[in-house]
Amino acid sequence: MRAARESEELIECMNDEDIYGTPPVIQAIRHETEKLGFTMASEPKTGSLLRALAATKPGGRLLELGTGTGIGTAWLLAGMDGNSRLETVDRDPVVVAVAQGHLGHDPRVRFHLMDGADFLTRPQQQFNLIYADAWAGKFSHLDLALSLLRTGGIYFIDDLLPQPNWPEGHAPKVPALIENLENRSGFVCTRLAWASGLMIAVKTEV
Ligand SMILES: C[S@@+](CC[C@H](N)C(=O)[O-])C[C@H]1O[C@@H](n2cnc3c(N)ncnc32)[C@H](O)[C@@H]1O
Repeated sequence: MRAARESEELIECMNDEDIYGTPPVIQAIRHETEKLGFTMASEPKTGSLLRALAATKPGGRLLELGTGTGIGTAWLLAGMDGNSRLETVDRDPVVVAVAQGHLGHDPRVRFHLMDGADFLTRPQQQFNLIYADAWAGKFSHLDLALSLLRTGGIYFIDDLLPQPNWPEGHAPKVPALIENLENRSGFVCTRLAWASGLMIAVKTEV
């Protein structure tokens, strides 16, 4: 009886739907995100993992491709220390205005309203973590994005499991991307069939 209760308690305390410590700003961002009808925001599990990954990079240089309304940005900032810096890029001024309105006061983040591919071609930039959540840097310009990672740096992608907002013809691109990453030398990868479907690729060589 006692063993059964202990098992139940353990299972409950490992309930990963119950995300602890969500940054308070996310509630307000979500409210505006829904009002806008923006359906591509990162989900809470993804955000909680992003926060933990950001915390592995003290003094880190981080890049988010696809700011959206700033949900992922808020989670990344919650994991970053005071010396870390985040560049976040999106070409849609409407969604970026929401992110900037809620997070623009934080001196650790810089917003770039431009195409992700153009941002990637800027000279002399290197990152400890890249969250690639836009077309550029994921389904295009992948080599370029990966070339900007430092050794030990993390390349993180989501939405690898079928999503209701995928356009026609998108599905076959996903296994090709996964295979591409797993067959690269100089990277150690892991798949997570969790949240929207995640993958982490860690750079092991210069
Ligand atoms: C999945 S949403 C980003 C969600 C956000 N990271 C979050 O955590 O909620 C993808 C975003 O990428 C942007 N985007 C798509 N292609 C882009 C490109 N080539 N350059 C810049 N932004 C792009 C879209 O405007 C959209 O806001």
